[in-house]
Amino acid sequence: MKFEKFMQWVREQAVDMGIPAIPESTGKFLSLFTYTFAKDKKFINIVELGAGIGYSVLWMLDGVLKAEEKCKIHAIERERVIFEKSREILKEAEELKGFDLNNYINFHLKDAEELKGDEFEKIDLLFLDIHKKGYYSALLKFEKQIKEKGVVIAHNVLSHQEELKNFLKEIKREDKYTTFFLETDPQGISVSFKK
Ligand SMILES: C[S@@+](CC[C@H](N)C(=O)[O-])C[C@H]1O[C@@H](n2cnc3c(N)ncnc32)[C@H](O)[C@@H]1O
Repeated sequence: MKFEKFMQWVREQAVDMGIPAIPESTGKFLSLFTYTFAKDKKFINIVELGAGIGYSVLWMLDGVLKAEEKCKIHAIERERVIFEKSREILKEAEELKGFDLNNYINFHLKDAEELKGDEFEKIDLLFLDIHKKGYYSALLKFEKQIKEKGVVIAHNVLSHQEELKNFLKEIKREDKYTTFFLETDPQGISVSFKK
């Protein structure tokens, strides 16, 4: 099976479980972004808060592998049923790719609210897709761990501006970040480079 067809199947599995996985257009953007971002870096450390069954995780991995670089993606999910499904999806993805993906991806059963922010060494890319109230506190907790010129990408920033008011104010701080807003899908994403 081709990768894109496989990813359509993964997204259908997520939707069947009631998980609002990112749209395919944003998945393809994440792949393109991680491709260019990882190129010549040899290794990047990625943390995703709100991993679902791994749809967005696999798009990010796709970009890193296309760049022929290595990464560790720490994928955080708080619901046990969803976490267990992500382990199954990882096995399916391994069959497709033909090698062990445990070197690249660690799924963690954890509520992002319970993390302190220093669990995963220095971070190159933080991707936020959790409950909306959690974005601001997650950013504050993790910002020290994000490398200089590291990136925070957040989903739903155009569709949930009121709920994300504090978070948006923070990523617009020009002393801290250079932020771009992109309509990769109607919910929109922000891409913030740490200064
Ligand atoms: C919008 S879905 C996105 C899933 C994934 N990013 C994707 O595109 O396939 C959000 C996921 O985050 C999980 N979640 C929400 N709040 C969370 C939190 N505080 N900690 C960990 N996971 C959380 C939900 O259970 C759900 O699976």
